[in-house]
Amino acid sequence: MAIRKIIKEGDETLRKISKPVLDFDDRLGELLDDMLETMHRNDGAGLSAVQVGVLKRAFVMHAKKDSIQECINPKILKQEGTNKFKIEGCLSVPGKCGIVERPEKVWVEFQNRKGKKVNKKFTGFEAKCFCHELDHLDGILYIDKATEMFNDRDEYNRKKEKQENKSKQEKK
Ligand code: CO
Repeated sequence: MAIRKIIKEGDETLRKISKPVLDFDDRLGELLDDMLETMHRNDGAGLSAVQVGVLKRAFVMHAKKDSIQECINPKILKQEGTNKFKIEGCLSVPGKCGIVERPEKVWVEFQNRKGKKVNKKFTGFEAKCFCHELDHLDGILYIDKATEMFNDRDEYNRKKEKQENKSKQEKK
């Protein structure tokens, strides 16, 4: 296993459409192992192959305790609701975060590293993460969809606090 370099916003590779995975071979396994290690090392909740410069439709995510997912050739079959998690970040856009609306529930289909078809339903933060990573495979970054951007998490927290105080006062 090896840590791979994560490419950053501004690199045009991130804007390319990734290609379907056809070969479920050792090379794919090695790529996924490296992606998991790279994601964990950088405290990320998800990482797409394109972020390490490989244009394959594959991503990994660890957005929920004890739930590591490897999603190859992923698709959303159905979605529902509005996610309660508003804020989003990306290892390719270091430091920043932004508000993006995502579905609360997604019913999805993908293949595992052996090529076996998997159907799952993700909710909450995992659903948000799945949508974010799937966008990467189509050259879309969350900053394209964000309705508001923040320079760091503190800036967002300060704003949230202000809003909460305001609504508390309004209720009085
Ligand atoms: Co990302």
